[in-house]
Amino acid sequence: MAKYLQMRDQNLTGKRLLIRVDLNVPMVGKEVGDISRILAVLPTIEAALSAGAGVLLLSHLGRPQEGQFDAELSLQPVAKRLSELLNRSVPLVTDWLGHQIKPGSLNLAENVRFQIGEMSNADALAKQMAQLCDLFVMDAFGTAHRAQASTHGVAKFAPAACAGPLLDAEIENISLALEQPKSPVVAIVGGAKVSTKLEVLRSLIDRVDRLIVGGGMTNTFLAAGGYSVGTSLYEPQMQQTAIELMQLARRKGVELALPDKVVCATEFSADAQPEVFPVDQVPDDRMILDLGREFTAKVADELKNAGTIIWNGPLGVFELDQFADSTRLLAEGIAASPAFSLAGGGDTLAAISKFAVADQISYISTGGGAFLEMVEGKTLPAVAMLERRNQ
Ligand code: 3PG
Repeated sequence: MAKYLQMRDQNLTGKRLLIRVDLNVPMVGKEVGDISRILAVLPTIEAALSAGAGVLLLSHLGRPQEGQFDAELSLQPVAKRLSELLNRSVPLVTDWLGHQIKPGSLNLAENVRFQIGEMSNADALAKQMAQLCDLFVMDAFGTAHRAQASTHGVAKFAPAACAGPLLDAEIENISLALEQPKSPVVAIVGGAKVSTKLEVLRSLIDRVDRLIVGGGMTNTFLAAGGYSVGTSLYEPQMQQTAIELMQLARRKGVELALPDKVVCATEFSADAQPEVFPVDQVPDDRMILDLGREFTAKVADELKNAGTIIWNGPLGVFELDQFADSTRLLAEGIAASPAFSLAGGGDTLAAISKFAVADQISYISTGGGAFLEMVEGKTLPAVAMLERRNQ
């Protein structure tokens, strides 16, 4: 049983609800670029309103300078999109610290990070937020790894605090894949740098049967194995760490698979010509931009035998079609597998959407950093505060 209170168990009729959501969405100019995070919180908003509550939504967008309005990071385009999706007007409130939440009302507060004290989790700001409501609902899973005034401090001072349905579903599904996985467990981790994924890789080696390393990180592993990686981006200072991770995997009986061939080009550009080389023959003037097709096709095919799959990060430069093969094959392999599959992280979501496999993945997390911190085994501060309020 969850150790925090749940929104679904509260009497919401006539209550003033302050709901922290994560509407930190990608923007394309003045428009919302991807609505996944908005769609994910619609059921929470609808449930609160249909139970007779009044709602003020809080979110951040980007990382503005505190105390300064920045038109580019205003939540106005998000309010517009939210209004369209809910088919009702969702006014954006700029001066929201004095806002009165009326029964049945729905408003979105302007970017919470415009307030001084948000990022530093200042008690003074958290108390001002807390006095707006009868109940604080934390539903911003994507920001639950941040101890900030709107995710942590406010939960300390609000009359009552509980988890929203999205936060709870995220924690349930991620915990299921990490703590009680059906074996064999396969993790696929892509990304540019070993240094940023080090804790994730270490933690996964403790939990999985097979680990596939992709993206720019592969270059560091190949260099650590003594191969020349040409002009590829890699981290020379992380080679020793890569060797230690390979040794750790061996000691734990985890298979850490690396490709035998890679797809290269002379430059990183939309019209770069792909060429395939064995890993021990990458020319000095070429950079690695994708894993070899046969290697990934085999990995993808073997996913049909997995019990659980955890996926974070693309395997190659999937944004460019000529270097997208391995990420596509992997996405299709995950989609075809009967395993419980869990995927998370910004680039991973973009790949899932590009290859249209969302419906065949068991659970897609809306979290980036928060997802990774859970995989690392860390406690998310916003969740810890909800648990503290329930003691
Ligand atoms: C995210 O997109 O990962 C979250 O919204 C958190 O944003 P932040 O990294 O700016 O705190």
